[in-house]
Amino acid sequence: MSNDESDTQPRPARTGVWFVGAHGSVATTAVVGALAIRHGLAPATGLVTELPELDPAGLPDLAGLVFGGHDVASSALAKKAEALADGGVLPAALVAATRAELEAIDTDVRPGHVPGEESPAAAIARLAADVVAFRERHAVAQVVVVDVASTRPPVEDPDAVRTLEDDLPSAAVYALAAFEAGAAYVAFTPSPCLRLPVVVEAAERHGLPYAGCDGKTGETLVKSALAPMFATRALQLRSWTSVNLLGGGDGATLADPEAARSKTSAKRSGLDAMVGHPVPGPMHIDHVEDLGEWKTAWDHVRFDGFLGTRMTLQFTWQGCDSALAAPLVLDLVRLVSAAQSAGRSGPLPALGFFFKDPVGGSEHRLAEQWRDLVAWRQGLAR
Ligand SMILES: NC(=O)c1ccc[n+]([C@@H]2O[C@H](COP(=O)([O-])OP(=O)(O)OC[C@H]3O[C@@H](n4cnc5c(N)ncnc54)[C@H](O)[C@@H]3O)[C@@H](O)[C@H]2O)c1
Repeated sequence: MSNDESDTQPRPARTGVWFVGAHGSVATTAVVGALAIRHGLAPATGLVTELPELDPAGLPDLAGLVFGGHDVASSALAKKAEALADGGVLPAALVAATRAELEAIDTDVRPGHVPGEESPAAAIARLAADVVAFRERHAVAQVVVVDVASTRPPVEDPDAVRTLEDDLPSAAVYALAAFEAGAAYVAFTPSPCLRLPVVVEAAERHGLPYAGCDGKTGETLVKSALAPMFATRALQLRSWTSVNLLGGGDGATLADPEAARSKTSAKRSGLDAMVGHPVPGPMHIDHVEDLGEWKTAWDHVRFDGFLGTRMTLQFTWQGCDSALAAPLVLDLVRLVSAAQSAGRSGPLPALGFFFKDPVGGSEHRLAEQWRDLVAWRQGLAR
């Protein structure tokens, strides 16, 4: 797991993990968490791939993950981990125990792509070369690139983005660089990327798998468990109102209404499909700096019962953003890497369980997504 090559312990088969946004909260929490679990300092709570249904023994070992990435911020992983510990996201003892490894991993974090500072073609070549050099330096067979960078605004007409000259969003630059480097790709953000023809064609050309979009970690997760209940009990949903209060770097990014548009559209994508008719209701995302890494969602659900009787469900979800997201990122790396080893390419709709807006699939109901994921995992093992 350590990126320190002087470690002489026998190693399990290793898999490279390349984070776009490597110095952010989600990436840092995922790295510290993977190291802590590897050293037996923390339990694997929240890791879906440790459940027996997904046959963890047949997936890339957590202890064999090697980390690197791109970021536009020149901060340090250990410093970010300290800040997360101060905010109560990580136990401070884990930061102290993993500090040397975090410093070693920082030597594998390279400057990211700032749109406008280099052409898309030059950026793709440079970013891809970084991933290839990382793979060779650590002698890993595979690298999975995971986008956990700040959310970027949507593009007006995704179908029109067919060439590098077509106003390429930065998430797409990273995806194209990943494919150029022979790496599979995970879009954990709602940034426009995996539905752009130029990206889809590149994945096809290189025969690589990809999964996305936008990790389903909080309010949308609860919604995808609850909405099917109304449908199968023949209760009529009349409105579903969501108020999301976010702190942290993600909350600050989403204070920009343009970036928030990507998020609200990903969050909205499933409800109508799950119940089979349009469900009105506003959705708010507001930045509340004081919340730090915590997010609060308040949902007000109005439905009609027998004889049209009015009823209401309300729930409040209070989650720690990065602690919800980090294990899913590690799950996705293990599953996408296993898919690549099994020769799979193109979108992986069976991984829709992890996403608000699954590419390649239209199933949003959590129980059905879990069933599909387990069946897919069994199919990979055969
Ligand atoms: N935490 C969750 O529960 C959750 C759920 C779903 C999706 N996400 C998404 O994950 C992403 C990361 O969230 P976070 O809380 O870690 O955010 P964060 O603000 O803490 O980290 C984002 C990182 O991306 C870097 N970055 C910005 N532009 C970049 C670029 N062009 N190239 C490379 N790096 C760049 C920033 O410097 C920063 O280090 C967000 O897009 C968020 O929407 C998070």
